[in-house]
Amino acid sequence: MPRRPTDHPADAASARNSSPASKPVRPVLPPSPDTPTALLGDLTPSQFMRRYWQKKPLLIRQAIPKVEAPLSRDEFFELADQEEVEARLITHFRNKWQLEHGPFAPDELPSVKQRAWTLLVQGVDLHDDRARALLDRFRFVPDARLDDLMISYASDGGGVGPHFDSYDVFLLQVKGKRRWRISSQKDLTLQPGLPLKVLQNFEPEEEWLLEPGDMLYLPPHIAHDGIAEGECMTCSIGFRAPSASELTAQFLYHLAERGESAGKRGALYRDPQQPAVDRPAELPAALVDRVGAILADIKWKEQDIATFLGTYLSEPKPSVVFDPPERPLNEARFIGQASKSGLRLDRKTNLLYNRRFFFVNGEEISLDSAKKWLFDLADRRCMSAKRFVTLSHDSPVTALLHEWYCAGWIQVGELV
Ligand code: SIN
Ligand code: CO
Repeated sequence: MPRRPTDHPADAASARNSSPASKPVRPVLPPSPDTPTALLGDLTPSQFMRRYWQKKPLLIRQAIPKVEAPLSRDEFFELADQEEVEARLITHFRNKWQLEHGPFAPDELPSVKQRAWTLLVQGVDLHDDRARALLDRFRFVPDARLDDLMISYASDGGGVGPHFDSYDVFLLQVKGKRRWRISSQKDLTLQPGLPLKVLQNFEPEEEWLLEPGDMLYLPPHIAHDGIAEGECMTCSIGFRAPSASELTAQFLYHLAERGESAGKRGALYRDPQQPAVDRPAELPAALVDRVGAILADIKWKEQDIATFLGTYLSEPKPSVVFDPPERPLNEARFIGQASKSGLRLDRKTNLLYNRRFFFVNGEEISLDSAKKWLFDLADRRCMSAKRFVTLSHDSPVTALLHEWYCAGWIQVGELV
């Protein structure tokens, strides 16, 4: 299913803090690169990345044995009723595909007894710690590529039709059964005039019935169709791959905003040699030349690219709103609490780094004292009380962490 607004113009990525169902969740660390894991059918993440990632599909039986859906059906429907949540309802009644955007009040959804409809919610990881914990299991792929966890609920016979995605996806069955059919077909022509992407000619080559705990990995552009057999829920762990044109546009914007590429960026266009004209509508050739020279002067270094990517990729999705604490602890009390219970990143926080900088929720940080502790916080998404105590005498560090705490970017207390 298309994940990003570029695929689906009507989508508006959004988020909200108050999950009806958020409880603290014990984190499951992602498998380390060279340890075989059931999650990948007993391959190591390194083997999986070499053999399958972006290359070919892989069916994994019992990737997560005894898996539990992050949300119950009722909790999921409740989430789809929230104003800022990105929910879609797809129905296939009387052979007609229809798409509606949420929020959906419970009485706006078809009955669960009615066949052939599906409700999808994007970015559930932003709203629920259990969904975030499930997404975290896939952090053997860099965070810079990890996008979100989408959940779909389908009534018997429900699905989104045969289609392809431009992204890698892990389709994890968490409740009930779904029959997946896939094809490596070259013909990706879509049926015209539909509100969603449905292939005109789907020629399935392989087929499996997935049960809870089973998972199917698909690289981009593999045609697929998943049809629920009885009610079911599927989690789709998706990755992002911005297009070259999106990256170019955003990078140029980043350069222009920073005025870094040349000292002349702030200079105004000048044309002291412009003669008087009798054809005022004509675009002056000298203007084209002059702007060509300005553009040819754009220069950047490798660090500009890294800084652009770090800020761009750590930028929260458009309507993410953080929940600052209502009555924040002052810095001294914050230090006292964190020394007892540690810290954790809020589930919506994006923290990336490279050799020289840290990027948190779209901001760049260069801290002399940002050493191993911050790498660790970024990689583990939490910090133990013990580790915090070793930093607590370093006032720039505690001031920074206190600032993040006041912004709602981190919370006191490790995940339990
Ligand atoms: C997908 O095909 O990408 C997911 C669709 C679904 O979960 O129904
Ligand atoms: Co899909």
